[in-house]
Amino acid sequence: MALEQTKRAGMTKLFTGTAPHRVRLGVNIDHVATIRNARGGKHPSPLAAALQAEAAGADGITAHLREDRRHIRDDDMIAIKAGISVPLNFELAATSEMIAMALKIRPNAACIVPEKRQEITTEGGLAVIGQETRLADQLAPLKEAGIKLSLFIEANQADIDAAVAIGADIVELHTGRYCHDSMGRDGELLRLQTAAQHAASVGIECHAGHGLDYDTVSPIAAIPTIEELNIGHFLIGESIFRGLPAAIEKMRQLIDAARPNPAGIN
Ligand code: PXP
Repeated sequence: MALEQTKRAGMTKLFTGTAPHRVRLGVNIDHVATIRNARGGKHPSPLAAALQAEAAGADGITAHLREDRRHIRDDDMIAIKAGISVPLNFELAATSEMIAMALKIRPNAACIVPEKRQEITTEGGLAVIGQETRLADQLAPLKEAGIKLSLFIEANQADIDAAVAIGADIVELHTGRYCHDSMGRDGELLRLQTAAQHAASVGIECHAGHGLDYDTVSPIAAIPTIEELNIGHFLIGESIFRGLPAAIEKMRQLIDAARPNPAGIN
């Protein structure tokens, strides 16, 4: 189905609520740490990048403390939480070690992601279906600590319903396949639109991210029920050429242009 038809058949018919005007942009600074770790030492500093991102208009900072500490490390998380003024979104696997770390750091949100040691990046969404009781028990301390619980999932209705059932506050829809499969992109976009609409209809906040760049961000930012995008690898890579503030500002412009805000409401 062509994109325009997809929009007509999917989004406009499905969405009946009020769209939040401004999509929040969370900047993921993991790969600043990747570069630092290539040589050891302190440069470039993920905290300095987070502060620069904040000054350039990032609405939040995202960082993934992986079990193998391949990029962000424990001391980075502590320094970032203490240093930034915008919300921190802490990505973590559902392990007792990471949950204890999140309880120590007290981020604004904890985004639970699946994690495999061998993967280059987070490959798919969290398996929620069939794991509801285990996840609800394991993640309850995060909610009790007042940390918003976010689940990084594939864009499908059943996983969203399972996320609601375990008391998650947010679902983040995995946009990796939409970004990387250019042949199947229209179908993936429809899947994301339908899932984001479903999330709104069952009252759970909807975010999206993974693999987004200047070429792919606009149709995702245009989905009216998506409230936040988390973008990392492309922005850090692009900052080599234009600097981090300019890379973020251009992304911000593309997001804003995709979600017009005639009333100027934030
Ligand atoms: N959202 C989640 C849950 C992620 O795990 C990642 C990658 O760490 C991102 C967003 C950002 O993806 P990318 O670095 O490809 O922009």
